[in-house]
Amino acid sequence: MNSPSPGPAPSFPLAILAELTHRCPLQCPYCSNPVALEAASAELDTASWLKAIEEAADLGALQIHFSGGEPTSRKDLELLIAKANEVGLYSNLITAGVLVGEDRLNSLSDAGLDHVQLSFQDSEAAGCDRIGGFKGGFEKKLAFANSVNALGIPLTANMVVHRQNLGNLESMLELAVKLSARRVEIAHVQYYGWAYVNRAALMPTRDQLERATEIVEEARERLKGILVIDYVVPDYYAKRPKSCMGGWGQQFLNISPAGKVLPCHAAESITSLSFDRFPEKSLREIWESSEAFLKYRGTDWMPEPCRGCERREIDWGGCRCQAFALTGSADNVDPACALSPDHAMLEALAEKDSHGQNDEFMYRTRRQGMELEQA
Ligand code: SF4
Ligand code: FES
Repeated sequence: MNSPSPGPAPSFPLAILAELTHRCPLQCPYCSNPVALEAASAELDTASWLKAIEEAADLGALQIHFSGGEPTSRKDLELLIAKANEVGLYSNLITAGVLVGEDRLNSLSDAGLDHVQLSFQDSEAAGCDRIGGFKGGFEKKLAFANSVNALGIPLTANMVVHRQNLGNLESMLELAVKLSARRVEIAHVQYYGWAYVNRAALMPTRDQLERATEIVEEARERLKGILVIDYVVPDYYAKRPKSCMGGWGQQFLNISPAGKVLPCHAAESITSLSFDRFPEKSLREIWESSEAFLKYRGTDWMPEPCRGCERREIDWGGCRCQAFALTGSADNVDPACALSPDHAMLEALAEKDSHGQNDEFMYRTRRQGMELEQA
């Protein structure tokens, strides 16, 4: 066994995820937002976001992802994109694409928007609208993608896949090509937050996962030079965990709508942690010394078998949010790791949920979230 290393000396976050709002016209049952959604009245104001963007650039960040909820719900998005442009941050808009007409997109483009990531819930209207809980959404997304292309803004299509839409994976890839997307992200649902609540309706079978992986591998060869395919596999069938967030507090900094600064977009699901707020504290102060960032950064926090494992600086012990959701403590080894004492429990859960008969979703709404919190 090797002795534990002190971990990296993190100097700056590569990317900032600015979750401008939890408001969203869609209600995806696997949303990565916390179950307790923030009200519009709690959102940071424009001046605070402008300050955060300046501080992010000073800290050394290279990119800013404007996300939500639906970030285009914010009327000041143009100002924030313009500020990102001014301070040299590459800006990416992560959107469902159903609120933005041509005029709004033109003004976002004029503000300096660099890239668009557009979500699809399925490859055809019925599934897309049902899963997203938004009638007419699919047609709006197609129109939005065409407008993005017409302006020459690079487009990534984001397809979240699960038991109820994996049968359409081939047509999702065809759709991405048809939309002239340069990149598609095929992301299996990750089970925390709303997805954890809906696990029994979403979990794919092992056969579905294996077939999906074959389809992706074949498409990667066939579409070389046409479409880049990013593929995120579900942890529940893994032998080793993913390097979640590139290591806790090492590459990303997430700002919630109300200004909580988090090492990961799902970190609020870890109820044993508390998070500092911007602008009460600066981003630098939080990045360098907040308790939540320091807690699982590097390798010093690790239990065995991670401490002596040769992968400890590859996967950084996996996902803290998953460890908390499944074992009740984020201090534990991620159960996705076959060396975790909880791995057999995870495999049994996946097996049971994937063969469940319940396809009903609990949709992401603020009221539903409050009820779940009280339960
Ligand atoms: Fe990763 Fe820890 Fe498993 Fe090693 S023991 S593979 S470091 S999660
Ligand atoms: Fe939070 Fe993995 S999703 S650490």
